[in-house]
Amino acid sequence: MKVSVIGTGYVGLVTGTCLAETGNEVVCVDIDAEKVRRMQAGEVPIYEPHLDVLFERNISAGRLTFTTSLEEGLDHGDIIFLALPTPEDEDGSADLKYVLGVADDIGRLIKDYKVIVDKSTVPVGTSDKVHAAIAKNAKSDFDVVSNPEFLREGFAVDDFLKPERIVVGSSSQRATEMMQKLYKPFVRSGNPVIIMDEKSAELTKYAANSFLATKITFMNEIANFCERVGADVDKVRIGMGTDSRIGKRFLFPGIGYGGSCFPKDVKALHKSGKDTGYDFKILDSVIQVNQKQKTALIPKIEKFFGGDLKGKRIGLWGLAFKPETDDIREAPSLYIIDELLKAGAEVTAFDPEAMENVQRKLGDSITFAPGMYGALEDADALVICTEWGVFRNPNFTMIKELLKEPVIFDGRNLYDLSEMKELGFHYESIGRG
Ligand code: UDX
Repeated sequence: MKVSVIGTGYVGLVTGTCLAETGNEVVCVDIDAEKVRRMQAGEVPIYEPHLDVLFERNISAGRLTFTTSLEEGLDHGDIIFLALPTPEDEDGSADLKYVLGVADDIGRLIKDYKVIVDKSTVPVGTSDKVHAAIAKNAKSDFDVVSNPEFLREGFAVDDFLKPERIVVGSSSQRATEMMQKLYKPFVRSGNPVIIMDEKSAELTKYAANSFLATKITFMNEIANFCERVGADVDKVRIGMGTDSRIGKRFLFPGIGYGGSCFPKDVKALHKSGKDTGYDFKILDSVIQVNQKQKTALIPKIEKFFGGDLKGKRIGLWGLAFKPETDDIREAPSLYIIDELLKAGAEVTAFDPEAMENVQRKLGDSITFAPGMYGALEDADALVICTEWGVFRNPNFTMIKELLKEPVIFDGRNLYDLSEMKELGFHYESIGRG
């Protein structure tokens, strides 16, 4: 099939590349000429495991091309994906200026029937707005479909190629059939393409992400409570998670959720509620609890050092909001670093992928180490913010030798409590006494 993708951010690029992988002819459109030039030369502009292999293969096969011309993109595709940014407004709602701006142009430019697919995470009712914006000028038939993505950073290619489900909000038989044909190769395993109305599809995305963020936040509160009563959240988690109604996943407590989706989506759903006179009390609590959880290690660190962090050197492992990404948006590490610096501590950090991004944001306020052990030289403590694989089974003897004292504050519960005791570490984590 002929597909165009408008916007080559994270979602657009993964969508375009994976659709080319199943034999579709895909044209990706972006207004950033320099980025388009780099992609034409085969350079993947984001870090996402496995994307580079697919990218190169499909460019070489001529199935994946790039342009800055919206008109060219619209002429090419029968199905047009909108994968445009929906940044958070000051009041927490999603800003639709990019989506509606392009919709306006689409109306002027389309010459024959198109299915316009909204892939961006947008508030309920956006498909109606997109429809109206296109209809203002359109001289040909078109349908607007909502098709939210459920891609996890770090696993986006796998999630796209083998989705648990695909949600399509469409009230047009013609558009529905085209979407089913497009997605058929991805659901050969029998996983469903769930067809519903546009508004329900739009809400499904917000509801799913807000539910997962709530699940994590609930566990973070249980972890905080465990610390008061001397219970071990790891045991509670396993005890709870084995009930299939609860499930084992997304029950891991830590220093809060971050990233580009959960924080933004929870706030946007909360704001949508407010706009319609509905007070989402749960989401309000989730937002507040998560904000506090990001710095949950700070009181522990302060207490250990007798309330004075001035001149203390902290070695920090993990800057990305989660492993397998260089994304630092809403990363707990940034909030922890901010508190540590305010308290007069010095920070030397290491992250396998995200150091450049943090350096761009924080400049010289912290130091970066070329390797994980380098961050620990002469440090008073190690603080762990992201559960990268390389941090899971480190050389504890080396850590002890490098640190002034064997002290670890772990925001991701990576190590065994009894093992750490045996090794002689002062070890504090989340919700485990
Ligand atoms: C998420 C959704 O999973 C995806 O479906 C959606 O489309 C985009 O948002 P992503 O933000 O890439 O994906 O990361 P995810 O792996 O879901 O983790 C989100 C956050 O929750 C991270 O900060 C992670 O550290 C945290 N988390 C996750 C926990 O604290 N505990 C858990 O048990 C799971």
